[in-house]
Amino acid sequence: MSSHRTNEIRPARRVGRFSYAIRNIVAEARLVEAQGQTVRYLNVGDPVAFGFQTPVHLIEAAERAMRDGHNGYLPSQGILSGREAVADDYAARGIPTSPDRVLLTTGTSEGIELALTAIVDEGDEVLVPCPTYPLYTAVMAKIGAVPAYYRTDPDTGWLPDLDQLRSLVNPKTRVLVVIDPNNPTGAVYPPEIRRQLIDFAEAHDLVILADEVYGDLGFDGSVPLMGTLDFDAPIISFSSLSKAYLAPGWRAGWMVIGRSPRLNAVLAAIKKLADGRLCSPGPMQYGIEAALRGSRAHQAPFQEALRQRAAITTDRLNAIPGMRCVMPKAAFYAMPQVTLPPGRTDEHYVLSLLRATGILCVYGSGFGTAPEAGFFRVVFLATPGELSSIYDDIASFTSEYLRTA
Ligand SMILES: Cc1ncc(COP(=O)(O)O)c(C=O)c1O
Repeated sequence: MSSHRTNEIRPARRVGRFSYAIRNIVAEARLVEAQGQTVRYLNVGDPVAFGFQTPVHLIEAAERAMRDGHNGYLPSQGILSGREAVADDYAARGIPTSPDRVLLTTGTSEGIELALTAIVDEGDEVLVPCPTYPLYTAVMAKIGAVPAYYRTDPDTGWLPDLDQLRSLVNPKTRVLVVIDPNNPTGAVYPPEIRRQLIDFAEAHDLVILADEVYGDLGFDGSVPLMGTLDFDAPIISFSSLSKAYLAPGWRAGWMVIGRSPRLNAVLAAIKKLADGRLCSPGPMQYGIEAALRGSRAHQAPFQEALRQRAAITTDRLNAIPGMRCVMPKAAFYAMPQVTLPPGRTDEHYVLSLLRATGILCVYGSGFGTAPEAGFFRVVFLATPGELSSIYDDIASFTSEYLRTA
């Protein structure tokens, strides 16, 4: 008979530092569902979950790859034809590059993790926007890096505060993260801001991680890649099929390491790390090729649908007393702010909203804003009719919340 010990096994301490509020909050929604209430999930930016369809030619390409027997391991860097498709796409957008500086990754997410792991040592600092997409700080928690938040300002349409950014740099700073178009704010930075970010990074020997996963979801059309301003700046660009190509579950993405020879050792380090995870999902790499070489006819109507939903969102939220919301310029997120009564937090507001109405948003502090500042993020991919009913419910809940505080 075995005598099993009963003491609980302790997980690693780094997990305690790790947080990804966008999904961590789902546990709360499950409790609400267990009590019989329907939850409207506005927490995850997945267009497919809201009825937007993956283009058929992508599906056919992935299916064909499987039928043609491409079910084995692939090169760690990704198939050559897929990397060529990415390199040609960047060239067509004005950035000369070569397939040798492209890696196909398991979504943008893996590219971010590979890059941070390849560049940043324990104790090094990384400049991340506030609010930020929380994967950056989550990965940093795993590798022992330290985030330094640079402010982006709702009063200027969520643009970076460059003076405050400059004040954060020190000898330990290695990387500048730029998320443009931005999640969670929907901001798009004008060229002069991007230029200043590049000059700042150059002056302090920083690598720019340019998260461009929403680049094709500008409401006025595609947003230029950051590297078009300076091919020789040390920029690593990331994107994927998840958002603008409507296939988030495929986990198919790419990263492009800028042509500057200053990035050669980093490129080698990224390739070395990529060897250890074998390859990204194989058949989906054929989907990347189909996406970047094939029709993008789905994008204009998608951009238009997003523009319409962004307008409904900002109009309706700005009409709620005690709330304000900056109009996004891209993607499918808005970051409204509610003026909280003293002592209340964004998490209290969001969880109270969930329990009262079944509407699940994410509290701003999950993206790095101060809990008492009252920001929260809305995903506005639902139909205009559904959004309208959601905003009715947010309006009545908020008036009650602020009245009884
Ligand atoms: C700014 C940003 N970067 C990266 C990702 C991750 O994307 P992927 O599905 O390509 O890993 C997301 C997903 O929401 C995001 O918003």
